[in-house]
Amino acid sequence: MRSMKKYCILLSELWLCAFFLLTGCAGTKGAEEKKSIRIGVSLYRGDDTFLNNIRGELERCAKDFEQEKGVKVTLDIQDAKGNQNTQNDQVERFLALGCDVLCINPVDRTAASVLIDKAMAAQTPVIFFNRQPVAEDMDRWDRIFYVGAEAKASAVLQGSIVVDGYRENPEKLDLNGDGVVSYVLLEGESSHQDSLIRTEWSVQTLKDGGVPIEKLTGGIANWERSQASALMEQWLEKYPGRIELVICNNDDMALGAIDAMERAGMEGIAVVGIDGTTPGLAAVESGKLMGTVAIDRTQYAGAILAIATGEALGWEPDAKLEFEDGKYYQCPWQIVVKK
Ligand code: BGC
Repeated sequence: MRSMKKYCILLSELWLCAFFLLTGCAGTKGAEEKKSIRIGVSLYRGDDTFLNNIRGELERCAKDFEQEKGVKVTLDIQDAKGNQNTQNDQVERFLALGCDVLCINPVDRTAASVLIDKAMAAQTPVIFFNRQPVAEDMDRWDRIFYVGAEAKASAVLQGSIVVDGYRENPEKLDLNGDGVVSYVLLEGESSHQDSLIRTEWSVQTLKDGGVPIEKLTGGIANWERSQASALMEQWLEKYPGRIELVICNNDDMALGAIDAMERAGMEGIAVVGIDGTTPGLAAVESGKLMGTVAIDRTQYAGAILAIATGEALGWEPDAKLEFEDGKYYQCPWQIVVKK
């Protein structure tokens, strides 16, 4: 896994360098060149592990950009603490401070229109990320973008980790040898575009791959490790010796399930996640997590920053970023399992 990670980081860095070189060559639309830009970033929750990883990478990419381009980038990063009103206030403040561009991870993805109204009134472009606004909102202005990663693709890869594992060694998943893999499912927030799609396609991929499955139960743990841990604890008591697989919509919930298994002194239950967060990758490495599906963080954060800097500086869009409908950028996933 280590060599794959290194390769992946190298590829990301090459990708990013190529991107910045190309954007640099593309020249500017405006006559006057800015020497510094201010980017307002609001996270739906600052304690979300996945977003914290993206935040770290965003800060790193901004430093690289400054060094390569000689343009000072001020990232003003705020935590909306799960409150849409707080986020609305943060956006107002960003605009009052004269931010050149906004990068918003909306608390309520169906309430983006309020933010868009404010941004459009100030003629300040917006890059939404991770929590996708509805199409009607995205279509309101050609300076609104979205950076994310396709939910279906992540789920199909997650399912294929289990399909491959089952084909290699069915006993590792069908622990009691009854010919069926009994699973429980931990889901993210019901309002999040990723939750339903990931759930549907992980299970569908197991069916398509010929894994005989039976669902024992499932529940919403809102992406959170502690909520997942509490649910798993109940399920371990309710279904003693029956749970063979835990399918999780993200790594944090997978880690929560593992926490509960450790507390109960249980071993051998397979757990799969999605994200490739730092603790998620460590759990794969240590053998606690059967596998995860990882985003290339550098590419994800690099795309946000590339669009933001391009918009703020008036640079022509770069051919290397492939947008869907001219505004959606979806970052690819890859499987991470211990070899
Ligand atoms: C990630 C979760 C994260 C959520 C936040 C999802 O795409 O997989 O880990 O908590 O986004 O919006």
